[in-house]
Amino acid sequence: MTFNPLEEKGIPLEKQLRNWHQISAKPYKKQKVDCYTRTRQILMNGIEVEGWGFKHQLNRFVNDIDIKDRENISRMGRIENQQQMTCNWLGASDQSVLETTLGYEQVAVDLTAWLAQNEPDKYVKETFDFGLLEDFDHLYRYAQFAYMREGVEPNDIVHGQTDVITGRPTQFHHNCNALRLRKHYDKDKTSPQTKVNILTVLSGEQQTHNFYAEHGFMYGDKILRETYAEIKDVEEEHVTMYESLIDPSESMFEKALLHEFTEVCNYYTCMEDETDDRIKKYWEIFLDMEIGHLHLIADMFKKYDKRDPEEVIGKEIIIPCRFKSQKAYVQKVLEKEVNKRLAPDGEFYKTLEEIPDNWASYPVQEKTSEISAPSENCIRLIKYYNDRDIVEADSSLKNKELTLLEQGMQKTGAAHNTVQTDELKEMIDTYEKLKKEKEKLI
Ligand SMILES: [Fe+2]
Ligand SMILES: [Fe+2]
Ligand SMILES: [Fe+2]
Ligand SMILES: [Fe+2]
Repeated sequence: MTFNPLEEKGIPLEKQLRNWHQISAKPYKKQKVDCYTRTRQILMNGIEVEGWGFKHQLNRFVNDIDIKDRENISRMGRIENQQQMTCNWLGASDQSVLETTLGYEQVAVDLTAWLAQNEPDKYVKETFDFGLLEDFDHLYRYAQFAYMREGVEPNDIVHGQTDVITGRPTQFHHNCNALRLRKHYDKDKTSPQTKVNILTVLSGEQQTHNFYAEHGFMYGDKILRETYAEIKDVEEEHVTMYESLIDPSESMFEKALLHEFTEVCNYYTCMEDETDDRIKKYWEIFLDMEIGHLHLIADMFKKYDKRDPEEVIGKEIIIPCRFKSQKAYVQKVLEKEVNKRLAPDGEFYKTLEEIPDNWASYPVQEKTSEISAPSENCIRLIKYYNDRDIVEADSSLKNKELTLLEQGMQKTGAAHNTVQTDELKEMIDTYEKLKKEKEKLI
């Protein structure tokens, strides 16, 4: 059965204001929540942050519109703000910054993997696959700190649904900005699915960046703080990369229409997939509110752009993401593309050998890691806590860790403190040897 949001009634804007009790929702329990309820909660917070921010951009940048429309844009901005609070406040109050961080990276991995497999545009899919391997590695780096600092094991958060192992090493995610810029789609030829996919992942990445910006300093551990700084900077690159896929010639109201449609599609999917009955009610109410927003913006689009909204968003809902385990897909991409790098003009180098000596990202990597790469130091530290790195993966992948590290390793641009393959092998061997000794002591 198809669902056309433009034919649904929704909740009218004047009925969307809620009281503080409703806004400040009761948090879920971190020990009981399903990992994919948490990923939905984290993603919807990001979607709302973008929805709220965009309303302000709209009112700042559009001229010559009726005052009634400007008033309604500002009212909608307030509602986005209230929805954002609810989504964020659903998060467990005793969930540590690192635990929440593992949740953020699980969102990035399983969302991007889903999007890549359901993306009709080949080039956009390639960009999703590229970003996927970077967030996959972030999850691994943070997992080391979660174990060292808080005794948290990866599966306490990801529940065995997402593998935790080296991806494309984080120190090689630092690029010249010019290379991060990708080729944008053509707004008149691209499907609503592609537009919603991009806006969904962009919102998630932007909020991940914001979360690290606001919380990385909350740890006193120097290496951990530096790692937050390092990965936050990569999230900045991810925002740059994903937003560059969007056609900049879309009008402000066309963009507004896509924002509301993206909210509608995401809440619709959350509502369908949610296993927690209490949280599902929020997704249902917010879906109806977004349908109300969509109607108002669709009317403005018709009035100012003199176009039919269905030309942009089509006649039915699309599914941006169903959160579920993506292990097999991620492993496939990892084995194929861990050595891929960004090339000029929105292209990719498919192997490390293709990279020229004057690659524009080398000076960026050499400068940022000139003292050391914090994301490499975290593996050096975990050696003393656990003999080897913390890895949670199916054995088929776990056995390939050294090969993957070798494949993704750059000779140029690598920090002096890089953990080389033979060092990691030694850690793994020591761990295996001492494991039996340690077991005898229990
Ligand atoms: Fe919203
Ligand atoms: Fe990330
Ligand atoms: Fe990211
Ligand atoms: Fe909205």
